[in-house]
Amino acid sequence: MAREQIVLLGAPGSGKGTQASHLVKEFGYNHLSTGDLLRSEIAKGTELGQKVQGIIDAGNLVDDMTVLELLKANCDLENKVYIFDGFPRNGEQAKLLEEHVLKGAATKAIYFDMDLEHLIERITNRRVAPKSGEIYNLLTRPPKIEGKCDVSGEDLVHRKDDNEETVRNRMNVFRDTIGPVLDFYESQGQLVRLDASRPSDEVTKSLKEVISA
Ligand code: AP5
Ligand code: MG
Repeated sequence: MAREQIVLLGAPGSGKGTQASHLVKEFGYNHLSTGDLLRSEIAKGTELGQKVQGIIDAGNLVDDMTVLELLKANCDLENKVYIFDGFPRNGEQAKLLEEHVLKGAATKAIYFDMDLEHLIERITNRRVAPKSGEIYNLLTRPPKIEGKCDVSGEDLVHRKDDNEETVRNRMNVFRDTIGPVLDFYESQGQLVRLDASRPSDEVTKSLKEVISA
């Protein structure tokens, strides 16, 4: 059973969503992906969704307070244990998460470390199932029936921000903003680094060891 809150850190395509789904099944975590929350607002056509669509499509970051408010509205830390995926993304967000959400709760921050160049291929071959949350890859985890989710049968989607030009911008944004986040968790003694370039099942094995330690 899950005990500590988990913060998953890593570049676009490093496997945060993929690994989170394993932890949800095995340890009973709740998965909170700010990217998924924002995309759901866009799909519903809300005012917030309309405000953020262009920013996400270009691969830039939505402003800190907007994402914090969305996170808080979907979070019940008193009763649940979470995997925070995609938040924090800069030093300010790391402080905001601690001050407004975690408030001293036992936390592990796990950084999926890998060479950014290898990620372009992973991301451009990704296909996702919005309803079931399953994540596929045309090269490493293809669906059994082309274009359909194995679990729900729904049509698979190619994320609009998963084209090469936007992915390169997302990588640059990541490179420019991750340093202070790692410094923040390192200074609190909460940071664990994992080699995320290995096959998915090997990453899962290491992750489970870290969480059970
Ligand atoms: P978000 O949805 O968080 O995107 P991201 O951080 O760019 O991360 P991804 O979802 O692309 O990658 P992932 O690490 O989850 O990889 P996955 O497991 O899918 O954010 C999107 C946008 O929303 C941002 O650009 C920003 O605009 C906005 N936003 C979100 N949060 C924000 C915040 N806090 N502040 C401001 N703005 C915010 O895997 C990728 C692919 O690789 C899949 O095909 C998978 O099958 C495959 N794969 C996974 N692991 C492996 C492996 N070990 N080996 C081989 N293939 C693998
Ligand atoms: Mg993701």
